[in-house]
Order: sequence, then structure tokens, then C-alpha cells
Amino acid sequence: MSTTLPLEPIEKASRDELAALQLERLKWSLNHAYENSPVYRRKFDEAGVHPSHVQSLADLARFPFTTKKDLRDNYPFGMFAVPQDQISRIHASSGTTGKPTVVAYTARDIDTWANLVARSVRAAGARRGDKVHISYGYGLFTGGLGAHYGAERAGLTVIPFGGGQTEKQVQLIQDFRPDIIMVTPSYMLAIADEMERQGIDPATCSLRIGIFGAEPWTNDMRKAIEHRMGITAVDIYGLSEVMGPGVASECAETKDGPTIWEDHFYPEIIDPETGEVLPDGELGELVFTSLTKEALPIVRYRTRDLTRLLPGTARTMRRMEKITGRSDDMLIIRGVNVFPTQIEELLLKQPALAPHYQIVLTKEGPMDVMSLNCEPCPEAAPDYGALDAASKALAYDIKALIGVTCKVNVLEVNGIERSVGKARRVIDKRPK
Ligand code: DLL
Repeated sequence: MSTTLPLEPIEKASRDELAALQLERLKWSLNHAYENSPVYRRKFDEAGVHPSHVQSLADLARFPFTTKKDLRDNYPFGMFAVPQDQISRIHASSGTTGKPTVVAYTARDIDTWANLVARSVRAAGARRGDKVHISYGYGLFTGGLGAHYGAERAGLTVIPFGGGQTEKQVQLIQDFRPDIIMVTPSYMLAIADEMERQGIDPATCSLRIGIFGAEPWTNDMRKAIEHRMGITAVDIYGLSEVMGPGVASECAETKDGPTIWEDHFYPEIIDPETGEVLPDGELGELVFTSLTKEALPIVRYRTRDLTRLLPGTARTMRRMEKITGRSDDMLIIRGVNVFPTQIEELLLKQPALAPHYQIVLTKEGPMDVMSLNCEPCPEAAPDYGALDAASKALAYDIKALIGVTCKVNVLEVNGIERSVGKARRVIDKRPK
């Protein structure tokens, strides 16, 4: 009988013990950044703050924020805080425009990262002897290698597939019988579609757990994937600038939002307009400070992700609410703020429609126009009446519950492009 894997002592520490460790590590991290990264030294000096000013965790609020622009302005290696010969690995996030954001790791950073992803995999309910199929992309993206080192560290058997070659993914899942899959939720759906195309019921496959992240996905999407695949689906969160996957991850016993691995990353929620720190429970922008990172210490990094901090449940460490979106993803349509996840929630209420979608923005004269492209479920595809009713009901819900007029176009089955990594939810065709 396979058994679940034990927790680390820090996962059971009291809040006081955790806070004491955080303060000690915060002082180290700020000192390290100040002493070894000229960029941080300049930023701290300009803001009139010094690491020695920190007497409590709340004092962090006096330090300046770091943004993606800081990393871009110091492209490629200008923010690193250790000499080149101590850097073991470099990753980069592509971004849609401009230069990539480059991040670095010492051997100890890679070790910490592996431990945290291992912790995440254990929290998801991994058992000794499990096989893990990894479909996050390998390469400069942190998903593949991050998941890989962590699953290996947890003592599991790793199948390093990477993204793409969907037919072959299905074949190897059938043949190797993995217990766990690590993949973006949108690519999980593409794999499930391919299984069905090959005449395989996804619910009968060997998978027991899915560890999904790298893009926003709703609780309704969780239910849809769990039902279709016959698995437990948990949410893993992370970003390259802070580390990669495994900054926070959900515990299978509660599935109530990712637990932040607070012994390594100190979270704050700020008002995105004023930068003011908000109390736990309030919705705002998530900001992280690394507590142990050597190669690229990150101080008050503005993630642009919108969420709130919640008390711990399965662990003493705090949780973050499942991310509803990034401030960058927020669409403003005729004055109404819309997040793609809001549309996703309503789409999933229509059983005749598949969970694939893309929002298309165009202009009619001076006015923004939003339309939603979606697909029928293969079983519903021949039933034009049902599809027409579903698209009308969806357009009605979007108007009534979000407040925008949206034309719903039901394309043919497979009409929406499938991504092998992060899904592209919005196509903006408005003239710049
Ligand atoms: O996406 C790291 C990662 C890989 C996380 C695999 C989880 C699994 P980046 O490419 O730098 O890194 O993108 C980071 O992706 O700021 C969020 O906006 C979004 N994101 C990541 N995880 C989640 C999640 C990786 N679980 C950006 N839910 C972040 C919602 C997520 N959004």
C-alpha cells in the first residue's frame, strides 16, 4: 500500500515561530540585496531606507517596490547579487513584447526551489511510488524544470515529457500509467480532448492528481476537469521573478487556495493605485519579497496578480485566494472592468458548450466591441437548437452578471486554437 509523504517541521510551526524565522531571514535578504546588488543599493538609498532599519516585518513597507521594469532596465544580468561563477542556472520569461525578463539561481537556490516544489507535490497528495508526467514546457520557462526537480526531490518517478505532441502525450499516459500530471489547466483540456478523439474515456486513465498552474483558472474549471478526468485538481502558483512554480501551492485536503510557502517568500497585498499595504482579507495586488534567494534577491516585487491573503487552514502558513486575474489582463469594455475568468465561470455553466474560449476585442466607430468565441461539446455539436439556446443564455448572463454586451459565436468543434502552455484568452484587434 503506498503511503503519503510526511510534512517538514516548518509546515507545522506556530505563527510565532514562523514570524521569527521570517524576520531573521528578511534582515538577511535585505542586507544581501543592499550589499551585493548595486541596483538595490541605489533604490534603497534613493528611498532613504537601510536594511538596519528593519525591526519588525511591518518595516518592510518602507522599502521601495521592484517591478518588471527594473529587471528590463537592467537586462540581462544587472540585478544579480552573486558573481557569475556562482550562478548555476538562468531562466527567462518571454513576455509578449520587448526583452525577456532574466532570472538566475545559485546551486542553493535550485536546491531550495526543488524542496519547495517537492513540498507542493506532497501537499497535492503524492504518495511514495507515484509516477509524475510533466507537460509544462522545458527550457527557459520555469514550469518544466521547476516541476521536474521538485518531483524528483519528492522521491517520485519523473516522466519529463514537456509541452506539445498531444497525440504522443496520450499514448504515453496510456502506456506508462502516471499517477500525477503537472500541466497548465488549458493544456490538460487539450490532452483530454485528444483522449476522447482516440476513443479513450479520460476518466478511466491512470491519473489520480493534477497539479495545475501558470495561468488563471476558476473553481468551475476545477470541477469540470476533476469530473472529466476523474482526478483531484490542485492549484500551483509561481512566477519566474520570485522563483518559478512552487511559490505557493494548494493542499489536497482543503483545496481552498494555494498555501504560500511563507518561510521563503514574504507576501503583502497592496492597493495597486496607492501602493499602500492592505490588511489580510482585502483584495489587491500581490507583492513578494524573497527571504532566502541568493542569485536574484527580490524585494517587494509587484506581481500584478490580484488576490487576497487568507488565514492558514491545512497549514499554519497563509493562503492566497485563487487568482482571478492580473491587472494587465483586465479589460475595460465601455467603462466596465472584465476579467477573462468571469467569462470562464459563466461559460462553464452551459453544458452544451466546451470549456475552450477566446475573447475578441474590436472597434465599431469609437466603441469597443467584445465577442466571445467558443465551441460546442462534441456530443452537442449536431444539435443546433441547443447550441443557439446556450449561446443566447450565455450572452444574457454576461450582460446581466458582468454588465457588458457580448456577441457569443459558437464555432465548430476544435475551432479555438489549442495552446500547449498558457492559453491566449484575449485577442485584441482594436487599432492601436
Ligand atoms: O508561470 C511559473 C509556473 C509554472 C507556475 C508552472 C505554475 C506552474 P511565469 O511564466 O513567470 O511563471 O508567469 C507568472 O503566471 O504572475 C500569474 O499571472 C500566472 N500564474 C502562475 N501560476 C498561476 C496560478 C510561471 N496558479 C505568472 N493561477 C503569474 C493563476 C498563475 N495565475
